[in-house]
Amino acid sequence: MRFRSKVRRIAGLALLGLVASAVLSACDKSPSILQPAGPIAQNEAYMAYMVFGVAAVVFVLVTAALIYCIIRFRDRPGAAEARQLQGNQRLEIIWTVVPTLLLFGILFFTIRTMFLVATPPSPANITVNVIGHQWWWEFDYQQNGKTQFVTADELHAPVNAIVHLNLISDNVIHSFWIPQLTGKTDVIPGHNNTMWFQATSFDPNNPDNNVYRGACAEFCGTQHAHMDFIVVIQTQSDYNSWVTQQMQPAATPAAGSQAAAGLKVFQTAGCEGCHAINGVTPPVKGLIGPNLTHFGSRQLIAGGVLSNTADNLFQWVYQAQTVKPGVDMPDFNGSAGSAGNLSQDQVNALVAYLESLQ
Ligand code: CUA
Repeated sequence: MRFRSKVRRIAGLALLGLVASAVLSACDKSPSILQPAGPIAQNEAYMAYMVFGVAAVVFVLVTAALIYCIIRFRDRPGAAEARQLQGNQRLEIIWTVVPTLLLFGILFFTIRTMFLVATPPSPANITVNVIGHQWWWEFDYQQNGKTQFVTADELHAPVNAIVHLNLISDNVIHSFWIPQLTGKTDVIPGHNNTMWFQATSFDPNNPDNNVYRGACAEFCGTQHAHMDFIVVIQTQSDYNSWVTQQMQPAATPAAGSQAAAGLKVFQTAGCEGCHAINGVTPPVKGLIGPNLTHFGSRQLIAGGVLSNTADNLFQWVYQAQTVKPGVDMPDFNGSAGSAGNLSQDQVNALVAYLESLQ
């Protein structure tokens, strides 16, 4: 009896899991590999459909044969002893050859897809060094092998452009993944991988439809799940204005404004130890936190944990360890382990300054 209730409970949990994954995977905004927006993801989606299709046909045929045999040849009262067999050569050949052919077919299409997605159709239009940090992404736009500008957690590219990515880490292994645009590639310290993508679908009427979610797909520490980013696909002219804006030094706040007070806080509270702001701090390489030169223009804070609003930024500066425990960003609320004891007015001024950095 006890065994049976245990089995029932496990079966119930399994069913619940299946239903939950079916419901959650149908979420409107979930980045599904089955909603491709570019050629790599498209080829990968074809591959997924093919493998699942073949597996579904095999599952249905085998299960149907199994159920048929269980019912048709079951023991009945008074039935004669079943015919005793010594194996069946023809059947054994069939169920060896058919799966072998199926698997070789899948192998053929897998290798074909790997070649299709390995090389971009034309030279790169944009090259970006992607640096995986614990736990955020730095995007270092390159021109002639030199840094043009850097941003964090937000990658922009024009529609149809071939984007070439150099994947770099100086800490642990991450994995870079934009489900609707391209598959995962590991970001390995001491071994720079490369990848590319191209976004070919574009909705001119709703810019929200041209923003794709990306994630880290390799466990890289306690906040691995909070290492998201977005990819913003734009028209060529919108992209060009974004680049022009990103290359400007930081805006100078008006004298006497709250933002000007915030700049003072930034320069005195120790923020400069980890964050650069072009035009304010010396251009230091190898910083701990994101470059904040155009922080106000970004949509996400803290590796995608928060959307970029003044309230969220206040929480982040004041008590980052509560928002994202274990992150390098310290608290500034005077609690144990804080890097400072800023008043709420000081934090509000800092927030006003950072949000003014468009
Ligand atoms: Cu980076 Cu997981």
